[in-house]
Amino acid sequence: MNPTLTSLISGALVACTLTGCGGGDNTQTTVVQPTADTVADDKASALLAQMTLDEKIQLVHGNGFGNSPVGGAGWIPGIARLGIPELYTADSAAGVGVTGKNVTPMPAPIALAASWDPKLAFEYGETIAKELRALGFYEGLGGGVNLAREPRNGRNFEYMGEDPVLAGELVAQRTIGTHSQKVVATLKHYALNDQEVNRFTSNSEVDERTMRELYLLPFEIGVKQGEPGNVMCSYNLVNGLHACQNPYLLTDVLKKEWGFKGKVQSDWFLALTDTVQAATAGLDEEQAGSPDDSAGIFGWPTFFNQKLKTAVQSGSVPLSRLNDMVFRKLRTLARVGILESPPKAGGTIDQAAGSAAALKFAQQSMVLLKNTASTGSTSKPLPLNAGSVRSIVVIGGHADVAVLSGGGSASVAPRDGDAVPCLKPGTVVGNLNLFNACATWYKSSPLDAIRAKAPTATVTYFDGNDAVAAATAAAAADVAIVFGTQWQTEDADLSNLSLPDAVTDPANQSYDQNALIAAVAAKAKQTVVVLETGTAVTMPWVGNVNSVLEAWYPGVKGGQAIADVLFGDVNPSGKLPQTFPVREADLPQTAISKTSLNVQYLEGLAMGYRWFDARQITPLFPFGHGLSYTDFSYSGIQTSMDAAGNLTVNFTLKNIGGRAGAEVAQVYAGLPSNSGEPPKRLVGWQKISLAAGASQAVSLTIKAERLSVWDTSKHQWQLPSGSFTFYVGGSSRDNQSLVAFSGK
Ligand code: GLC
Repeated sequence: MNPTLTSLISGALVACTLTGCGGGDNTQTTVVQPTADTVADDKASALLAQMTLDEKIQLVHGNGFGNSPVGGAGWIPGIARLGIPELYTADSAAGVGVTGKNVTPMPAPIALAASWDPKLAFEYGETIAKELRALGFYEGLGGGVNLAREPRNGRNFEYMGEDPVLAGELVAQRTIGTHSQKVVATLKHYALNDQEVNRFTSNSEVDERTMRELYLLPFEIGVKQGEPGNVMCSYNLVNGLHACQNPYLLTDVLKKEWGFKGKVQSDWFLALTDTVQAATAGLDEEQAGSPDDSAGIFGWPTFFNQKLKTAVQSGSVPLSRLNDMVFRKLRTLARVGILESPPKAGGTIDQAAGSAAALKFAQQSMVLLKNTASTGSTSKPLPLNAGSVRSIVVIGGHADVAVLSGGGSASVAPRDGDAVPCLKPGTVVGNLNLFNACATWYKSSPLDAIRAKAPTATVTYFDGNDAVAAATAAAAADVAIVFGTQWQTEDADLSNLSLPDAVTDPANQSYDQNALIAAVAAKAKQTVVVLETGTAVTMPWVGNVNSVLEAWYPGVKGGQAIADVLFGDVNPSGKLPQTFPVREADLPQTAISKTSLNVQYLEGLAMGYRWFDARQITPLFPFGHGLSYTDFSYSGIQTSMDAAGNLTVNFTLKNIGGRAGAEVAQVYAGLPSNSGEPPKRLVGWQKISLAAGASQAVSLTIKAERLSVWDTSKHQWQLPSGSFTFYVGGSSRDNQSLVAFSGK
């Protein structure tokens, strides 16, 4: 008989009346059907009961970094006698972090966030998980949801922007998609790991309300809606305690309040300082770990091998805590399907399917920031008309051969070699000089794709090093398309938000990108700027160009996706997941301190668009902004709130333009004026595709908790009393379609 069925029957809970479960009069036995959770718990309990102390210790620490038989970031040897397979883990933020395996480099997670599409997020997790399993990995280390408090954060491209609800809802779907392929999904880095400078030693100082309403909220939503098997705690300290040794974060909030049933895994190498503190705080697994704690790894100490065994034997770590660590591991393996169906290395990567998915994700995530006709003309430059455009000059950004991607553990090796040689090979960056300063470039040429779109046009390319030559050629062309690139990496923050040049990024930049764009814009009839960035950039030239398209790090089919949008084969539908400021002086902090280890969240709740709204600062491009090649109108907006504070928002959305398109209809709430909140917060949205002229009645239900504040006296969510104001529209500041509305 199928073992699962056996365990189902044996695991079935039998509820009996007061007279017992036996036969006889007036007795009723109702079999409470087992659930996936109870089956997983039963399996874990049965296995745990058979394990020796050494086997338990073996399961809760990694065996080193990158030394597994299948590569990747870490591994835990299995226990064959118990049917526990080898447990291989790989990074997977934007694709599987291995080399030489023909995996698919996806658009960066910030691009996924810009799609605002929960279904796409599911597919993103699903697609990467298929490749993880084909290579033998049971767990992927994607799912970064640290908020873009600091846009210079070197890992901003790996995360999901500045809003906790957008990030949480999308990472929950990514998690479910990952689990659908029997791969353990991760949320990271828990918590408040919001910059890279001094990331191993810095202390994030934040008040309770800000922490709960902003920085923990994407994890809360992700855990409650996605039920991830793994939460990775971060390197930094939070209010004085290492995140991986923080009982409030790991036990009080994550496990007790949110009911997290999975395992807490440390970030790699330097996240722990003390075996007992980490174990008793609620850490369940140390990575990368070491076969020998006395040796550690790369000279750094480790704590969950022999040191943990000693601590358990001495009683300083209760055996019950070790048993809980192991139980969480085992029930996660059972719950996700790893025990029944262990991943096997040697599978094939479906490159065509991966590329098709990467193309779709890129197409849906590009954000059209600006698209205006030149003075004296009525036609906007985009979409380009392949039939009528006669001459195009493409400039800079290695657009002749490639698109850019980010560095660090989120980088995904190109299938066919780097497309662009590094200007300074061997340069390293970061706190520990861990990472290569040379960017990753994928062989996906926007120039080739543009030429293919307009075969009758003359399309020339200038590499950007000679701004005068490029500008002169642009003057003679119908349109100039200039590419701006900004490379980011783990372990190093940006020094500023300007497009980098040979001074700020000497390994990847050879000229002043802002000067090039300005020179071209001064001469060209029409100027289109395409940005490949991981975060916001300032644009001193924005007033002099016609169009700006944010393509992010668009992945292995990025060149094609960019051309698809430029020529209108894809109508852009992305919206900004973070604010783009006019100038850095408008941000809460004008620079990241390199000396102070205390990162003080002095802006409190006023983070991201909340800051710009509270300070009445006009951003360059607001959170939620993104244009389309068509237009949408909102009408008939009605809101109602039930007694529990759950909100219903009804409205009609109409495509009033001349072509099909998708709109991300956003709902913001202004909480009662006495609630001490910034002017508005995102509380819900829906991405809706409509044919030209079509309209759709939309009804959104928004739970009361989205409208609540964190009460620091009761340490719980509280719906404030008073009058709410609700806004519905195509961005956080879309004046044409925002409708201020008073609810309860
Ligand atoms: C890194 C990163 C983490 C990554 C891990 C394994 O230091 O902080 O995101 O998953 O190590 O590479």
